[in-house]
Amino acid sequence: MSEEFFETIEEGRRYFGSRLTVMGHHYQEEAVIRHTDLRGDSLELARRTATVESPYIIFCGVYFMAESTALLARPGQEVHLPEPSAECSMALMSSPERLEQVLEDLNGLGRRVIPLVYINSTLAVKALVGSHHGATCTSANAEKMLTWALKEGDAVLFLPDKNLGANTANRLGLPEEDRFLLNLKNKPESLPAAAARARLLLWPGFCSIHTRFHLRQIERVRAEHPGIKVVAHPECPPVVLKAADAVGSTSFIIRYVEELPAGASVAIGTEINLVERLAAQHRGRVKVLPLVESACTHMAQTTEERLAASLKALIHRDQNGEPSSFEVRIADAWREPAKAALERMFEVCR
Ligand code: 13P
Ligand code: SF4
Repeated sequence: MSEEFFETIEEGRRYFGSRLTVMGHHYQEEAVIRHTDLRGDSLELARRTATVESPYIIFCGVYFMAESTALLARPGQEVHLPEPSAECSMALMSSPERLEQVLEDLNGLGRRVIPLVYINSTLAVKALVGSHHGATCTSANAEKMLTWALKEGDAVLFLPDKNLGANTANRLGLPEEDRFLLNLKNKPESLPAAAARARLLLWPGFCSIHTRFHLRQIERVRAEHPGIKVVAHPECPPVVLKAADAVGSTSFIIRYVEELPAGASVAIGTEINLVERLAAQHRGRVKVLPLVESACTHMAQTTEERLAASLKALIHRDQNGEPSSFEVRIADAWREPAKAALERMFEVCR
């Protein structure tokens, strides 16, 4: 943390007053998150965008999140991202070209396949999902959304996170034989018969930060700290979640730790910035440990220095009317279908 950047940022926030809202995801480091007006998990941040009235928003997180915020923003409202190259690697594991091919092939089998896309995806992919009557979901509402999608069609194509898809199917009790993990190295026309029968088709993407969690870490922490609770994020592999005491989004994990009684211990399977923040907040009341230290390098691209730079650029923009390179712009062609995918999610999860 730097005093120089702290002052630049706070001065910038004072300059804009109510004309600026700084939003941030729970995985942002403390030096950044301390400057936010609004923080949350992906669902909360998407939902709360509609309540933000300021003409400027600075979003501290990864690109797809700022893009969703820009998509849901009011006309004329600008969204700026302190590090525009901060891309979530999982979001880049599905492309609109490959998705279109797979959907065409699956629909060619004579079945109505509903695509359900994790919000951790590009705008182009969300747009394609929206134009195929599909919807987005987040880690906080994946069960509700998968239940909805299974009712809407003959089968659901869940993308891009195979772990969130499998974990959600486990929670809904969908049998293993009704699922099929796509192998995208195969040519689309070589889809095996099992894919044609499956009710849930899983795209083979994953989060490299959450796939660092393993069952042996849970066994070790339980052996070393008898009685310790284990809570993990649904992007972790299914074997980890089956052994955990509780599973949920980042905001769920925060509430879970808040509700633990004094003297309890908890090991957390999620990104390290959130775990360290919870450890500091509950020190002396609840012992908070990481299952293993796993940092998201994409989230870490947004630093206090970058936030200060984006604020300086925004002041310049405000005073001179010149466009800022930090602004997130949405391609017109994708706006309506991508918005439709997000709005279907809001309708189902009112
Ligand atoms: P949530 O905050 O929705 O749980 O998402 C976690 C995550 O990996 C965001 O990239
Ligand atoms: Fe993407 Fe995983 Fe980082 Fe979230 S934690 S931004 S899913 S790489």
